[in-house]
Amino acid sequence: MEQRHQADEVPDVNGGDYFVVKAKDQGVTVIGLTRGKDTRFHHTEKLDKGEVLIAQFTDHTSAVKVRGKAVVYTKHGIIDTEE
Ligand code: TRP
Repeated sequence: MEQRHQADEVPDVNGGDYFVVKAKDQGVTVIGLTRGKDTRFHHTEKLDKGEVLIAQFTDHTSAVKVRGKAVVYTKHGIIDTEE
């Protein structure tokens, strides 16, 4: 049987969805979690109050955790972390 390569197992997410995080406070943290069997933090981004991060879901990032007071814009809607 033909060997399966990793590229076959993960979706093609070069065109992955974008999301936006706007920090409403100092020290908002945006954490990227790895795609695949092993779900772990791979990147932590600190935002100052008023800073905006525009990011994408990629081959390496399947989930994102937002810590602190922020507004998150996705295609699914707008989420205020305090509500
Ligand atoms: N190198 C990471 C990646 O390509 C960069 C990244 C993309 C990221 N989206 C993210 C880091 C979301 C943290 C959160 O996946």
